[in-house]
Amino acid sequence: MNVSASPDRTEIVLCSAADVAPGTALKVEEAGLELAVFNVDGTFYVTDDQCTHGPGSLSEGFLDGDIVECNFHQGQFNVRTGAVVMPPCIDPVKTYPAFLRGGKVIIAI
Ligand code: FES
Repeated sequence: MNVSASPDRTEIVLCSAADVAPGTALKVEEAGLELAVFNVDGTFYVTDDQCTHGPGSLSEGFLDGDIVECNFHQGQFNVRTGAVVMPPCIDPVKTYPAFLRGGKVIIAI
């Protein structure tokens, strides 16, 4: 497990930046979370992997800019904000603040 904790936050190392090519996503399971790491033109965004509408895996969806389309019923989310862009999804997907350090994608929770 790639987790380090301080009194006010926990950092989780998810993957190498090189593991996620621009315009693609990677599913990462770490610290009991199932996450989708998205590379949008070199900026990394992290959301829960599971679609809020059903069993779809967002990392297996279709990424167009900062919009991911779930491959189950074609609902869409903005990966920067988690906001729903297209029904049938209603609830936003949870996002995590992500940053790069030493070539690794890290979230702080
Ligand atoms: S499971 Fe994702 S849109 Fe239905």
